[in-house]
Amino acid sequence: MAETNLTWYKDAIFYEVYIRAFKDGNGDGHGDLIGLTEELDYFKNLGVDCLWLSPMYPSPLRDDGYDISDYYNIHPDYGTLDDFKRLIAEAKKRGIRIITDLVMNHTSDMHPWFQSARQSKDSPYRDWYVWSDTDEKYSETRIIFLDTEPSNWTYDEVAGQYFWHRFYRTQPDLNWDNPAVIEEFKNIARFWLSLGLDGFRADAVPYLIEREGTSNENLPETHVILKNFRAFMEEEFPGAILLGEANMWPWDLRPYFADGDEFQMCFHFPVMPRLFMAVKKGDAADVINIMERTPDIPDNCQWCTFLRNHDELTLEMVTEEERQWMWQQYAPEDRMRLNLGIRRRLAPLLDNDRRKIELLNVVLFSLPGSPIIYYGDEIGMGDNIWLFDRNGVRTPMQWKDAPNGGFSTADETYAPVIDDEVYGYQEVNVENALLNDCSLWHWTRYLIAMRKAHPVLSRGTYTFVPTGNPAVLAILRESEDEVILALANFSDEPQVARLHLPQYAENEKKELFSHMPHGCARDEMHRTLMEPYEYQWLLMVPNGKDQ
Ligand code: NOJ
Repeated sequence: MAETNLTWYKDAIFYEVYIRAFKDGNGDGHGDLIGLTEELDYFKNLGVDCLWLSPMYPSPLRDDGYDISDYYNIHPDYGTLDDFKRLIAEAKKRGIRIITDLVMNHTSDMHPWFQSARQSKDSPYRDWYVWSDTDEKYSETRIIFLDTEPSNWTYDEVAGQYFWHRFYRTQPDLNWDNPAVIEEFKNIARFWLSLGLDGFRADAVPYLIEREGTSNENLPETHVILKNFRAFMEEEFPGAILLGEANMWPWDLRPYFADGDEFQMCFHFPVMPRLFMAVKKGDAADVINIMERTPDIPDNCQWCTFLRNHDELTLEMVTEEERQWMWQQYAPEDRMRLNLGIRRRLAPLLDNDRRKIELLNVVLFSLPGSPIIYYGDEIGMGDNIWLFDRNGVRTPMQWKDAPNGGFSTADETYAPVIDDEVYGYQEVNVENALLNDCSLWHWTRYLIAMRKAHPVLSRGTYTFVPTGNPAVLAILRESEDEVILALANFSDEPQVARLHLPQYAENEKKELFSHMPHGCARDEMHRTLMEPYEYQWLLMVPNGKDQ
């Protein structure tokens, strides 16, 4: 059926599913599509609108699936194409959309294209990758996987040349200057979108094109390619989205929206670490500062905001000084650090303090953008810093107090379930969370429901209102229909905020989490006492209406 709500993503609540970690449906110790399909009601109950699935394609898994060896199939660990079709059909029945990763920048070195390319300069695929006789080209390009890769070039004995790679050496970059690559990716997108997929999270997009003398990131030529790709999707699959993964400063991100004709969505990377900075400092200034330096985006576009995902908490978009500070504060042990980031989950980062977890989520849901929840964070899952690379935040979903946390019936799972005193599956699991009305899960469900009941939070304008107190953030969301003032105290002490909002002086104010009318309703100078880490959503009740 043709999509009628073309900007659905502006109101959607997203949820990132790491397929291998979510639910094992066939008892082999790996999460899979059958398991995921069985749990679709879980998302429905939580209020999730769109799942983002980590790469599900065949892959040697040198980068957990971000190294694809066949773009037209499903990894055998995860099931079959038929399983995928069933997943889509069952999701549609429940009104849940699905997007998946599309890895555009590189393939696996095991992909038949690369295997052919390296064999001979005459291979039709040779020019699908980026080769050089020396490793000196593009020397102004930074290395991303700093902990593992000494260079962006690796010499291939078979090819007799160096190949270019921005990530692991097992992920050769594709040559997007080659029109055949562009056409092939249209075919890949057509294949999946025809099955009913709702779009893609486009991986590592800033790096598609290389030009000597540049940083080889965000080049104009890359934007031309992405715009054409969007035009093709718009033409053949209207309503399908492109969500861009570009870990960049806001001003470098802005061009990815172009005139509303490139990406519909981009992750807002820079605000994320600043939310963690703010709660540690008890000062909201960094959040305000980065948002004030974030350019407006076209009306049909939306930021995608998040607290955590399957990677390290990236600290690329902070200064060197801020990075050192974040590491000291949040990653005191060496093994908590990875590349330029922190490989820990939300709950441990926030000392498992429910007040801080709620606070950051409320702020995330109050800022412009559509939020993404990372699997397991809604029940406060922990991490395992003893596992390699980013695997510590990709452990099995904890369903109940049963072997393997109810994730799998296998004797051995792809990774051990978390089993420690604080975050162990015996306590932290979905079953417990559902039974306990006061759990983080139920609170998250309420947060989602309220956000959906008040579309001003997803579509309204936003303004930071001075509070006279650096610890208290006030975001005014306004639309023609509704006005909400979001307040958040980042400090661990009580704080007083003073707000001057003469335009709403006459409105009754109703607090949406407590359902209470707000005390100082008719003061022009609105004075509020906030408890440590307290938050409020104040609805300006239209005059004459008793809501
Ligand atoms: C970004 C993905 O989120 C990450 O997991 C992956 O390693 C790189 N892109 C390379 O594809």
